Amino acid sequence: MAQIIDGKALAARIKEKMKTQMPQLKAQYGRLPSLYVIIVGTDPGSQIYVRNKINAAVSVGMDARLIELPEEISETDLISIIHVLNEDPLVDGILVQLPLPAHMNEERVVDSIAKDKDVDGFHALNVGSLWQGTHCISPCTPKGIIQLIKSTGIPICGKVAVVVGRSNIVGKPVAKLLLDENATVIMTHTFTEDLKSLTLQGDILVVAAGQEKLITADMIKPGAVVIDVGITRNASGRLVGDVDFDAAAAVAGYITPVPGGVGPLTIAMLLKNTMECFLNHAEANSSASKIWATVINARIGRTNE
Ligand code: GUN
Repeated sequence: MAQIIDGKALAARIKEKMKTQMPQLKAQYGRLPSLYVIIVGTDPGSQIYVRNKINAAVSVGMDARLIELPEEISETDLISIIHVLNEDPLVDGILVQLPLPAHMNEERVVDSIAKDKDVDGFHALNVGSLWQGTHCISPCTPKGIIQLIKSTGIPICGKVAVVVGRSNIVGKPVAKLLLDENATVIMTHTFTEDLKSLTLQGDILVVAAGQEKLITADMIKPGAVVIDVGITRNASGRLVGDVDFDAAAAVAGYITPVPGGVGPLTIAMLLKNTMECFLNHAEANSSASKIWATVINARIGRTNE
């Protein structure tokens, strides 16, 4: 019988540790990390997600603000608001909840967020850095998945990791993070023929397809680490993942539940990303950086006014 990977408990430990760091940050930098979340419209699912993000940030002691905008706001006005936040030195992280209304171009909106405030890691420049292997803010769910796998104590290096789903938010970036951990990655998707023959090879199986019971017990390698990213409400109103949990738990070595698996880690990683942005900004504003700016400005004959 598989061990259940308790995402809620792991996320709680990460958040508890972060909370203890806040007084030190306040003393050192004179302020706390700040996260600004923008939601457009009234989609009930998105409303719950953003409130969970804000509540988590507040619970660790961050300065978290929710900006609620009407469904009809134009893309230009939304981007103008983002530009104001980009310029504000007291804003560390900006998150625009997706999906956006149909009249907006998500790519343009996401790319209008300053790269160094993009706590989702969705900006084209952060995506490029992720794939180039240079430093970047990695997307929250993939980053959380790596933490969940590591929490089992099973080494990722050299293992076969099968990813089901190729979205920009989960499938593609998690494949890259698994590659960075030296896994041998097999990507699968809706056009994959004989999915079972591939999933059966996975020492690690990450499923992010959004289809209830897509993965049945006979598709899982005995002892595998199974990470279920799917979360949909089934016909009887229950939140379910992509894996047939009860049967799969009899075969897998480790498995995440839905809910209580990946979701809490996504939020914990959002807070980690916010902290990373804050530290980058605080460092850029440190007295050492200011001294160097003065030295360089003097050398090139530039004044501050
Ligand atoms: N909508 C669903 N998941 C996400 C996420 O991780 N970030 C944002 N911004 N919107 C989402």
